[in-house]
Amino acid sequence: VDNGLGRTPQMGWSSWNHFGCNINEMTIRSTVDALISTGLTKAGYTYVNLDDCWADNQRTKEGYMAADPKKFPSGIKALVDYVHSKGLKLGLYSSAGTRTCSNTMPGSLGYEDIDAKTFASWGVDYFKYDNCFRDGSSETVRFPRMSFALRKAGRRPIFYSICEWGMRKVATWGGQYGNSWRTAGDIKDTWASMLSNIDTNDAYARYAKPGGWNDPDMLEVGNGGMTNGEYVVHVSLWAIAKAPLIIGCDVRTVSKETLEILSNPEVIAINQDRLGIQGKKVRKYDNDEIEIWAGPLSQRRTAVLLLNRGATGSRRITAAWSDIGVGPGLAVEARDVWKHETVPGRFTGSLTAEVAPHSCRLFVLTPVGRQQGGAS
Ligand code: GLA
Repeated sequence: VDNGLGRTPQMGWSSWNHFGCNINEMTIRSTVDALISTGLTKAGYTYVNLDDCWADNQRTKEGYMAADPKKFPSGIKALVDYVHSKGLKLGLYSSAGTRTCSNTMPGSLGYEDIDAKTFASWGVDYFKYDNCFRDGSSETVRFPRMSFALRKAGRRPIFYSICEWGMRKVATWGGQYGNSWRTAGDIKDTWASMLSNIDTNDAYARYAKPGGWNDPDMLEVGNGGMTNGEYVVHVSLWAIAKAPLIIGCDVRTVSKETLEILSNPEVIAINQDRLGIQGKKVRKYDNDEIEIWAGPLSQRRTAVLLLNRGATGSRRITAAWSDIGVGPGLAVEARDVWKHETVPGRFTGSLTAEVAPHSCRLFVLTPVGRQQGGAS
């Protein structure tokens, strides 16, 4: 939606994947501090998002949503002020139904204007709208309603994250109302779930653009269910697909390896490239074990991902220029963004690399000239 936000995919942290309902103001404040001390905010992760379970079980007598007094005794406004004082932004959550998915707090159905005004009065910067306890009316009615309410409510625009799990072909209308929209169900911290979500998301690539992004769900990196090699694949796919990069682990106890996976500046630059064109799967073979993903970047560069989904055996994978959208006569330099090295030599026509099982190689190709006697 054209509210000036989400010109590149949003980056931040959310409470859900690691903490679930087990959140309170100490957890969030110490997370803010850790995001800063680890350098993650400098890397670009600036939204701090409370997911489900932040509010009191019932509305006030006057009909307002209020913070859970046991979890957030100082209230949301004080938390927003703290987050803002650190130069970060705060996100909040509700559902387009009578209750949220956890059933621990009210939803915003029928209260769109009053809730949007409440959130705006607290200074909230980001809002995720879920799809539980609905009334049978269409997503295409309930989600736009909150979009209008948010736009009316605030002095400043509020980032609007639509979470209806890809129902009613949301990618085809999400961009009119929101800054991102979930294309799939909830991610789990497994290799299969991660791949399934990005595969579903891939079908909608053409609808992503600055201002509105397909959302294959939040990152599981650092939560322990996958190997670090698999988490590198997770971040690489999310980066090339221009997916929101919302950290989902406990950043207060994050390992050095996890931190490196999450804060690689060359990988983040692919995700945040100003063209905002979603890279996609351009070829697959060998029973879908081998895949090539690619997408254009600014300055005539190309991002290319060689992926070995197989569990056994290292493979040599070749990306042909004709598959990845590089001009036939073009010579390029290849930067390996995980190894932080430029591969020696120039490449014309194709690039080949060795890829271990359940891992990937991610390159940025930069044109350096024309092949001698090359066409175009
Ligand atoms: C739904 C959403 C999740 C999360 C939970 C919270 O399942 O898809 O991302 O917000 O609700 O209960």
